[in-house]
Amino acid sequence: MKQKLLKLLTSAAGGVVSGEEISRELGISRVSVWKHIKKLQELDYQIAASPVGYRLLAAPDALYPWEFGEREPLIHYLPEVESTMLTAKQLAQKGAPGFSVVVAEKQLKGRGRLQRAWHSEQGGLYFTLILRPSVPAIMVSRYSFAASLCLVLVLQKELGVEARVKWPNDILINEKKVCGMLAEMEVESDLVSFLNIGIGLNVNNNPGLKEPNSIALAQVTGKPVSRKRILEGFLNRLETELALPALDHIIPQWKQHTITLNRKVRIVTTTETWEGLAVDIDEDGALLLQLQDQTLKKVYYGDCFLQN
Ligand code: BTN
Repeated sequence: MKQKLLKLLTSAAGGVVSGEEISRELGISRVSVWKHIKKLQELDYQIAASPVGYRLLAAPDALYPWEFGEREPLIHYLPEVESTMLTAKQLAQKGAPGFSVVVAEKQLKGRGRLQRAWHSEQGGLYFTLILRPSVPAIMVSRYSFAASLCLVLVLQKELGVEARVKWPNDILINEKKVCGMLAEMEVESDLVSFLNIGIGLNVNNNPGLKEPNSIALAQVTGKPVSRKRILEGFLNRLETELALPALDHIIPQWKQHTITLNRKVRIVTTTETWEGLAVDIDEDGALLLQLQDQTLKKVYYGDCFLQN
C-alpha cells in the first residue's frame, strides 16, 4: 500500500494528487487515505496536505521495504538489531529465499571479521544478504569477491569516488576503510545451503571517531549520500552478475580494481604473521605472497595491512 501511495505521490502531474484520486486508485476510503498519509508523515516523509490534495515535498533516506520496488517482500528492515548476521542466519535457517536482505539502522553488537566488533551507529548502511548458491563450499569465495567487486563498481558509478578493493573483501577510498564484509555459511551434503554476506558501509556516519583509519562516503563527497540508492544499485548489479552461467570472470575483474597487488603487505591471521609482496590472487581467492626468501606463500585468510 505504501509503495503504491508513494508512487502516486511521486508521479502526480504538477506534484499534487487529490485524496479522491488516491482513494479511487488504491480502492480505499478517504479516511483511510488520510491515515496512510499520516503514517508516512510519522516516518519522516514530508507531505503537504491542502484542499486540492497531497504533495510529497521530501522523502527520507529510508531503507523501508516499500522503497525497493519488486524487492519489497525480500527486505527485512529493522530500526535496531543485535547484528544483522544473527537475524539473517535465523531467517536463512527458516528457509528465507536467496536475495533476502536484513538491513538495520543500528546494530548493538555489530560483528567484524576475526571476532572483532563493528561499530554501527546511525547513518551507516548495515545489512546481510542471504544467498543460496548451490555450489560446493570451496567455490563460495567467488561470491564474496563478486559482492565486493559489485559494490566498488556501484560506488564508482553512482558517486564517482575512487573506491578500491583490498584483499580479501575490504573497500578503501584514499587508503582508508569505507566498507567491510563478513561471510557466514552453512553446508549440507557437501553443498552450500546458504551463504550470508554481511556488509557494513560507512555512509553518513562518522567512523573516524572510533576507527582512525576509516572514512565515510559523505566525507569523501562532501554531502549526504543516499543509502537506498547504493543498496539498490548493489543488489541489482550483484543479481545480474550472479545470474551469469559461470563466475570465472569475477576474480580477474576484481584484480583490476584492487589496491593490494604489487604492494608490500603484512598479513595477520589468528596465529601467524607474514610479510611480503602481494603478487597475485588465485582462482580460489587466496593471496599469493612473495616472501623475502623469494618463496611463494598462499594465504587463505587474514587481515591485510598495506605497507608503504
Ligand atoms: C570487517 O571486519 O571488516 C567486516 C565488517 C562487517 C560488518 C557488517 S555490518 C552488517 C553485518 N552485520 C554484522 O554484525 N556485521 C556485518
